[in-house]
Amino acid sequence: MADKKCIVVLVVIGALVIMTISLIATSLKKLASDEIGIKYDTINKDLGDSTLREGLHNGPPGFEFIIFPSVYKSLEFSQRCLNKDGVQIKLDVTYQYKVRSANLRTVILNFRNFTGYKKVLTYAGEAALHEACSYFNTSQFQSQRAEFQEFVRTKIIERYDLLYADITDLQVSNIERPAEYESAIRSKERAREDIQVALNERPRLLTEAETEKREAETQAEIIKDKAESDARILSNRAKTEAEAILTQYQKEAEAYKQIIEASGLGFTVEGFISYLGVRVIADAKNPVYIGLQSPAKSSYN
Ligand SMILES: *[C@@H]1O[C@H](CO)[C@@H](O)[C@H](O)[C@H]1NC(C)=O
Ligand SMILES: *[C@@H]1O[C@H](CO)[C@@H](O)[C@H](O)[C@H]1NC(C)=O
Repeated sequence: MADKKCIVVLVVIGALVIMTISLIATSLKKLASDEIGIKYDTINKDLGDSTLREGLHNGPPGFEFIIFPSVYKSLEFSQRCLNKDGVQIKLDVTYQYKVRSANLRTVILNFRNFTGYKKVLTYAGEAALHEACSYFNTSQFQSQRAEFQEFVRTKIIERYDLLYADITDLQVSNIERPAEYESAIRSKERAREDIQVALNERPRLLTEAETEKREAETQAEIIKDKAESDARILSNRAKTEAEAILTQYQKEAEAYKQIIEASGLGFTVEGFISYLGVRVIADAKNPVYIGLQSPAKSSYN
């Protein structure tokens, strides 16, 4: 009998120990160093009042923590938006965000848990980017990148303030304009360079043309001089020849004069003509036929 009682007591004690251990186990929960949380009594559906930090915490049996990160987490956007000109811009933006621990209860009441909260922060971030985009025109995206980044930061802070989150380390790492816009810009710049090259070339081309013109003029001058000198030579030669011929005829004339003159040989005109005839025949290389009368003959008579 005593043995049976003993076993019952031991079983009861053992059961009590197990119950106690399991009760303690379900009423103790741990938060890691990068976590904050609020107790939630899953049985009574009761949310705790205070935000708790790293460590072991006790609560009603079966409670759990609704846990949020206590450190900054990254959000990354690769977003297309329309700018002030209605041109589509592609943006890569990253930043870090963190819930304000003082407002954790409100956040949990509104968004239930971290998954829901992060979703809302993502939408708010996208909306802020779209808004910021619409304030800048295409040339400002090129020339005022720093101002744009600052503007994006301001817009996100405005919206996250209402959601009890802080941000840090915002970077706009890439701003891409549409490919057609980029290529239009590039061809405009190429055209400008071409114009500059042409302008730079102009003096050289002008000098070249000027040189060619001078060369042509010089060449023309040389040709003209040569033509004039040729003409002079020809003219002189002709004059000399003419004079020579004239002289020859004068000499002949004088010779004939002597033949005819009384002080000379005293030929009659008929005799002289007969003499000329003889000379022509004598000089000729071919047979000569002439129809002269023979005046000389009478003088033989
Ligand atoms: C957050 O709550 C939603 C339902 O509202 C649930 O589907 C999700 O699993 C919860 N996330 C965490 C991390 O508890
Ligand atoms: C862009 O905005 C700036 C500043 O408001 C202005 O000076 C510039 O003319 C605008 N450019 C175009 C192409 O609209």
